[in-house]
Amino acid sequence: MRESVSRRRFLQSVGVSGGAGALFATMGALGLAPAAAAPAPPFDPPRKSDFSLTGRSAKRVVILGGGIAGLAAAYELGKAGYDCTILEARGVAGGRNLTVRGGTTETDLDGQTQRASFSPGIYLNAGPARIAQWMVTLDYCRELGVPIEPFVNANADALIYNEANGKPVRYRTAKADVYGYVSELLAKATDQGALDGQLTATDKERVLSFLQSFGAIGGRTAGWEYQGTNRRGYASYPGAGNDAGTPLDGPAALADVFASNVGRYFSFEFGYDQAMMMFQPVGGMDRIPYALSRAIGAGRIRLGAEITAVTDKPDGVEVTYRREGRTRTIEADFCVAALPPHLMARIPHNLGTAVQSALGSFPVTASGKIGLEYAGRWWENDLRIYGGITETDLDVSHIWYPSTGFHADRGLIVGYYNTGANARAYGSLTPEQRLLRAVEQGVKIHGEKYRSELTHSFSIAWHRTRYLEGAWTSPPWGSAGYNLLLQPAGHVHFAGDWLSHEVAWQHGAFVSARAAVTALHQRVLAH
Ligand code: FAD
Ligand code: ALA
Repeated sequence: MRESVSRRRFLQSVGVSGGAGALFATMGALGLAPAAAAPAPPFDPPRKSDFSLTGRSAKRVVILGGGIAGLAAAYELGKAGYDCTILEARGVAGGRNLTVRGGTTETDLDGQTQRASFSPGIYLNAGPARIAQWMVTLDYCRELGVPIEPFVNANADALIYNEANGKPVRYRTAKADVYGYVSELLAKATDQGALDGQLTATDKERVLSFLQSFGAIGGRTAGWEYQGTNRRGYASYPGAGNDAGTPLDGPAALADVFASNVGRYFSFEFGYDQAMMMFQPVGGMDRIPYALSRAIGAGRIRLGAEITAVTDKPDGVEVTYRREGRTRTIEADFCVAALPPHLMARIPHNLGTAVQSALGSFPVTASGKIGLEYAGRWWENDLRIYGGITETDLDVSHIWYPSTGFHADRGLIVGYYNTGANARAYGSLTPEQRLLRAVEQGVKIHGEKYRSELTHSFSIAWHRTRYLEGAWTSPPWGSAGYNLLLQPAGHVHFAGDWLSHEVAWQHGAFVSARAAVTALHQRVLAH
């Protein structure tokens, strides 16, 4: 750029000739706008021309497991014409991506059968429920035409309930008080010179100015004190004429606010994977496997097919499975094994002892959810909570309000979403006992309507769910075993969220499938 051309003129001309996209990209290059965020390493899907232009033929691939990773592998390989067959033990594709609707039936490992009797349009996303903006999962939604809508992951009017305090506090109130008092303390310390070793005089003024606005505290002459603010919310909101509203009582004294521990969960929404905006597919998370299945072709997905043996051979793979009471085998040139590692470890194979011991090295997390259908949306009508999450220190952990169907007649609350010991405790109960226990906890926060307006429920304990037996794993990243599974074992390539750094997210399953597809395709093209 010649020096005589101003940045502004240059940007204007880029905008005119290249449109907004080019303008934005150029601004990014000049450091004037955020750079484009890459959701995943670049991925070049296999193409039909990779074969037609090189005289090679597409290969047969058997895919073990029809979860997101297995489906994504078949979908991407299918773009180039690979002849893929998915073997999936459950009656529906999707794996942990399970949406429970009226009619969904599930028999767990303890032999307990639940049949959901939710009303039409009511569903529980029993596994995945939210998607961050940067996740590749959204790219697949776009590509597959799955409509999305916002998922409310943080709501200022949702509640925080710590049992010792006895009554719930709204997030906005808790945040105003905790941020206010923290700001007061830090401002006093700064102004009294406690941080002089760290801060110049100018820095101090900047920190003080930030704290004054962050905590809504008084200035120097007011001793930096936090005395409450309308950020806390109102008992009666401001109205017409001279109605200035009735502020909530409070705030409580600094020591009492900290003793109440309301700030316990504030950092959750700062997470790079949990910060708003977040999204969900319209109509249920299973719209993703549904769309993938449609794109792959139902004829390529064998449901109810339980894999019982995997044999790598000099020129391919043989997989044995049971379906409709019969044992069958399928042969293929390659295999993508997208089963949970702890279940793959139980299937007889000849992939070697190192692979076997690596598959067994993924600790598994327990998790559970319960969906509670209500005849009225009292959380919206009475409590004015439109989506979001109430955080508790009860054994139910998190209570989710629906992010869809606002102002409808009915709705579904996730009455618990817990992990670890709490999930195991609920998982060891019958579905009826889980319901009673969860409702008893929820009544403490929401009152009797939590019980009286309830119409239907369905609960899941992932560690007791057939063919999954866990919610997610803790991979031994960096270990020799983990790295071994990133490589193919003979003709078998592994995939799943457990082979990624985004475990417990579909993003991890998608990018792992892409990695397996890339490795397999490069191998095929190299011969
Ligand atoms: P899986 O879904 O486990 O697929 C493995 C497949 O193998 C299954 O279909 C299984 O039936 C099949 N299988 C097992 N054994 C056999 C056998 N012998 N023969 C044939 N088939 C077999 N992700 C998000 O993006 N957002 C979220 O909000 C989110 N929340 C979650 C909450 C919970 C409670 C859980 C459990 C998961 C959540 N996830 C979330 C994670 C997400 O569900 C997973 O990352 C993703 O679905 C994993 O896909 P996968 O294909 O790797 O594995
Ligand atoms: N990724 C999972 C969730 O957000 C654990 O609930």
